[in-house]
Amino acid sequence: MNQISNFKVANKLITGKGATGKINEELKRLGVHNPLIVTDEILVNLKVVNQITEFLQDLSYGIFSGVQPEPEIHLVEDCKVMFLAGNHDGLIAVGGGSAIDIAKAVSAYATFDGKIEDLFGTDLVPAKGAPIIAIPTTAGTGSEVTNISILSDTEAQLKKGIVSDYLLPDVAIVAPEMTVTMPKSVTAASGIDALVHAIEAYISVYASPITDSLALGAMKMIGKYLPKAYADPNHIEAREQMATASLMAGMAFGNAGVGAVHALAYPLGGRYHIPHGVSNALLLPYVMEWNKIACREKFRDIAEALGAKTVGLSDVEATNVAVATMQNLCQTVNIPKGLHHFQIPQEDIRSMAEDAAQITRLLKNNPRVLSVDEIEQIYQSAY
Ligand SMILES: NC(=O)c1ccc[n+]([C@@H]2O[C@H](COP(=O)([O-])OP(=O)(O)OC[C@H]3O[C@@H](n4cnc5c(N)ncnc54)[C@H](O)[C@@H]3O)[C@@H](O)[C@H]2O)c1
Ligand SMILES: [Fe+2]
Repeated sequence: MNQISNFKVANKLITGKGATGKINEELKRLGVHNPLIVTDEILVNLKVVNQITEFLQDLSYGIFSGVQPEPEIHLVEDCKVMFLAGNHDGLIAVGGGSAIDIAKAVSAYATFDGKIEDLFGTDLVPAKGAPIIAIPTTAGTGSEVTNISILSDTEAQLKKGIVSDYLLPDVAIVAPEMTVTMPKSVTAASGIDALVHAIEAYISVYASPITDSLALGAMKMIGKYLPKAYADPNHIEAREQMATASLMAGMAFGNAGVGAVHALAYPLGGRYHIPHGVSNALLLPYVMEWNKIACREKFRDIAEALGAKTVGLSDVEATNVAVATMQNLCQTVNIPKGLHHFQIPQEDIRSMAEDAAQITRLLKNNPRVLSVDEIEQIYQSAY
């Protein structure tokens, strides 16, 4: 760990029950008079969005409610049209990673002269766009504090990222009450996404003492509180712990990166539209089985953080306990097991492996190198 590390995060974090009440103050501070709320129909119908608009009585604002899960690129075009037509001067994302990622992309793209494709990649956004306030309604992606927007390219059947520090939100408002209406399956999938962010950041070759402490702290909270939030959706303490853990895991992976679980999960989202957290969970134990020889001491820490006891165990035993504990947590929240449940033809596995092997942006963070053949083997084990 002899390397220079950057640490970047949203400019301001406001957390805790009732934090949404600060929205007006923040809009004023940022000089935003006519924000566009970026959200989806479900959150409008459940009146989750009302928990924000009730504070905007004195402002003019618009609502773009067209966001879809695993959002496709054309949604950025649709949202940009509304942003420009309404003369909006800021974006408030109210939703899961999908809504937050659309708002980030629109901030970058609204005044950009080229095509959206020109922004895919790292550091290709030329300037900071309209201010972004991110208000997550899931506890998982950490997108409220990261510098990336992930979009589905349906033609290429791939998920692509715009990575730029200009996408770091100006404010993240993380309030547990925004997450209580999440269906159980979304609580589970997004919670496992946060767990994978923490684990992959912790074992990343770019981990630092700062990201390690956030990642381990997040793992402890997720191990304890994800089952509680899953069992009782109104358990506000569990929701608060999960919302904060997701934020912490976001800060960890936003700086240390994620690795092979995410790289192998992308083709599942891009081709078969499997929700991001579920794709991660399907691959987590198999990728970790592969990774474990690269960093056994870190796997012991992961086991302990997730509540398992490793005192007296050899390194090999402790590593196995870590993998089993991750798998148990996925089972506790009823994440389905096996790629075959998702109508993925087994003959597609080779080309999925070829696609995953291209995601060097993430694979370079992974503690153990993977060839296309080895990726294919992992998909076969997870099938
Ligand atoms: N930018 C990043 O840093 C980052 C990190 C990880 C994942 N992602 C991306 O985020 C997306 C996934 O986001 P997600 O897991 O948060 O899910 P999501 O935003 O796709 O939402 C999933 C579903 O849950 C519903 N939902 C969300 N909050 C709800 C609530 N409080 N009550 C009721 N329903 C609710 C939504 O309407 C939607 O139908 C993927 O596209 C993934 O690639 C981005
Ligand atoms: Fe993720």
